[in-house]
Amino acid sequence: MRKAQQHAIWGRRGTFILAATGSAVGLGNIWKFPYITGENGGGAFVVMYLLCICLIGLPVLVAEIMLGRRGRASPILAMQRVARESNSSKLWSLIGWSGVLAGFIILSYYSVIAGWTLEYVTTAARGGFEGFDGVAANNTFTALQGDISTLVQWQTAFLCMTALIIMFGVTRGLETAVRILMPLLFCLLVVLLGYAAYAGDFAAGFNFLFKFRFDQLSLEGLSLALGHAFFTLSLSMGAIMAYGSYMPHNQSILKTAATVGVLDTAIALLAGLVIFPIVFANPGVEPGAGPGLMFVSLPIVFGAMPLGEVFGTVFFLLVTLAAWSSTISLLEPAVAYLTERFRFHRVAANLLIIFCAWLLGLTTVFSLNRWQDLSLVAGMTPFDLSTFITEQVLLPLGALATAIYVGWFMKKRPLRRELALDSSRWFVRWLTVLKYVSPMLIAVVFVLGIVDKFAG
Ligand code: PHE
Repeated sequence: MRKAQQHAIWGRRGTFILAATGSAVGLGNIWKFPYITGENGGGAFVVMYLLCICLIGLPVLVAEIMLGRRGRASPILAMQRVARESNSSKLWSLIGWSGVLAGFIILSYYSVIAGWTLEYVTTAARGGFEGFDGVAANNTFTALQGDISTLVQWQTAFLCMTALIIMFGVTRGLETAVRILMPLLFCLLVVLLGYAAYAGDFAAGFNFLFKFRFDQLSLEGLSLALGHAFFTLSLSMGAIMAYGSYMPHNQSILKTAATVGVLDTAIALLAGLVIFPIVFANPGVEPGAGPGLMFVSLPIVFGAMPLGEVFGTVFFLLVTLAAWSSTISLLEPAVAYLTERFRFHRVAANLLIIFCAWLLGLTTVFSLNRWQDLSLVAGMTPFDLSTFITEQVLLPLGALATAIYVGWFMKKRPLRRELALDSSRWFVRWLTVLKYVSPMLIAVVFVLGIVDKFAG
């Protein structure tokens, strides 16, 4: 396929892995994974999540990188090109559209949560967690949820940070950030793990995470595990496809995808291993505490450990930066589309999307306080609805369409050419899973999840 002249290709081989890991590792791993695991009873949920990652997430991750690299354009255009090459319908580019839409909605609420981490950076730096117990930590978190002006201030700050990076170009800033900050985040998590093992109830935390209990399997848990597998690997949002379009040809897609998947899962499990021992050692903190779990459990540690102020500040800062390298990838596909298709100036496209995401994000802010009891559909606040529509509807459907398209409709020649560097045994295994196993599982879990939601 002819390459678009204006489309850049990253010169260094490591850049794709760094950028994709930066996108994948974020609030999903450190904030969301522990809290949904806690709400869904622990071990059984973790098993469902790991199965979803291996049988669905990784195969779709490979497909998405491949589509981006084959199309060499922003997701919507890339899908159009790949479809043309395989003589399939232009409608497949809807995959790109649904991705851009999901990415936009996610950006709106993600920036509100990233705002919480910014607030916690300043609290930690002031030594505000000193002597915290479960009750004090809960009170601080609850107070923040009710403080609309602070929430909006940090949401705005975080969106401005994202806009800045996109304006100055993604590659250089992102590469440095991920190369240095990700390992730092990893090391800090390991330090915290040591502390949690020493001061927390490590055995209880470990058991909670890894002990499988049949009675805890639930449809809702399964549907959440699936949605989260897509969310945490940044799938179905055009993000990975957009980065794939910059990936050089001489790089193995299967190996790259495996690396990203392993790093992402390792960080999520590590975060769980830090948070749950602390939860079980402190009265007043519940595993099922919901979205506040990380913000309630970790301040207790920072308030008690030596040099807690420093560790706390650096930790929340690194989480903010991990979130930042994720939002950059959320914004990139939409910006790339507006500039390619409508010749928008990069800065204008960027500001327009950021502003709209900010407006939509306000509905998330209000869902935490004034609209707490507002039920739009099936008892969901606007924030609940945003997460439901994205993680349980758009992401599974996008991934289903991707798996079906690549497995059944794309011509085998371009497919083989993109995956030529990978051993043919793995190619066949991958294609078989993508063709039969992933779509069936996604379809079943998706339908059951929707039925469960609206019947329940
Ligand atoms: N994967 C990111 C996380 O786990 C979230 C994200 C989703 C980022 C989609 C980009 C695209 O936090």
